[in-house]
Amino acid sequence: MKLPKKVLEHIELVEKSLKEKEYRSEPKGLYEPISYLLNLGGKRIRPALVMLGAEVFGKPGSDCVEQALAVEVFHNFTLMHDDIMDEAPLRRGQKTVHEKWNVNTAILSGDAMLIQSYQHLIKNVSGEKAVKLMEVFNQTALEVCEGQQFDMNFESSDEVTVEKYLEMIRLKTAVLLGGALKIGAVCAGAEIHEQKQLYTFGVELGVSFQILDDYLDVWGDPKLTGKRPGGDILANKKTFLLLTAMQDASGSDRELLEKWLNEKDQDSRKVEVITELFEKMGLDEKAKELSREYYQNAIGALKKIDVPETDKKGLLELAKQLVERNF
Ligand code: IPE
Ligand code: IPE
Ligand code: MG
Ligand code: MG
Ligand code: MG
Repeated sequence: MKLPKKVLEHIELVEKSLKEKEYRSEPKGLYEPISYLLNLGGKRIRPALVMLGAEVFGKPGSDCVEQALAVEVFHNFTLMHDDIMDEAPLRRGQKTVHEKWNVNTAILSGDAMLIQSYQHLIKNVSGEKAVKLMEVFNQTALEVCEGQQFDMNFESSDEVTVEKYLEMIRLKTAVLLGGALKIGAVCAGAEIHEQKQLYTFGVELGVSFQILDDYLDVWGDPKLTGKRPGGDILANKKTFLLLTAMQDASGSDRELLEKWLNEKDQDSRKVEVITELFEKMGLDEKAKELSREYYQNAIGALKKIDVPETDKKGLLELAKQLVERNF
């Protein structure tokens, strides 16, 4: 991603702090998987959002680096557990923690990361501001869990609609982008209505982000995404792609879809066959269009915030890069 210098500087600061993050060396089985996942890379967009969110309201992003780390460590905790839930073998091009170690390790190291994220969140803050940060963080974190549960429930449900999918991804993914920005706004002492406006921008951007993540699960280059291609297809994830196919396919396409949805063998041709059907139905383009629609909503929400346009440049550019990304 070609990001503005300021955003890159924020990301560098986060990288540096993550590397310097000290771990008690023992027990190694608890702390090593944490350093492993945190140092595998990643786009670091959520901590960048915390810092850019603060800057929109006049506070230097670097003043909120601890809160930015809180959000990134929390995000990585959700990934560690998400990979168990999704039975994913790869993350950022390397073995997932539960594959490299085992499931118990991934559960407990993930739990420890959740605790560490709280340590970061309230470092160097107290009083009203600390309480407010906790409120935003707690609501966001609980909603992420709700979204993850819906995501799991939906795998085996025939009653999912596109509307329900959009609500599920709002919870599992989008509220964390919104929450990151709101945390930045709270750090900067923004007014409640300003916090809300920035949150709305983040949530719309997050929905756009997850629709594209679902697209890339099918059509992304695994060398770039670092994930197993077609993981969502294998798990019958009720993405916009699958839901639209289930809704619109008719005749022999419908039979084909129903047959392959019942296929449990991970080594079958399921991914290939369903990908072909998605392509035949033009769902690749449709998903991109939907992602762009939410991106436009996000831009609309950002426009409404009453600060000089120059102060929004970093966010505008980051959003543009996210909707055009290929990983
Ligand atoms: C992956 O998030 C999980 C989703 C919510 C789609 P990212 O695509 O931001 O993952 P990293 O941090 O860059 O690896
Ligand atoms: C992840 O959604 C959402 C959370 C981790 C909360 P996905 O399951 O689609 O994320 P990836 O594709 O594994 O990164
Ligand atoms: Mg998942
Ligand atoms: Mg996953
Ligand atoms: Mg995904």
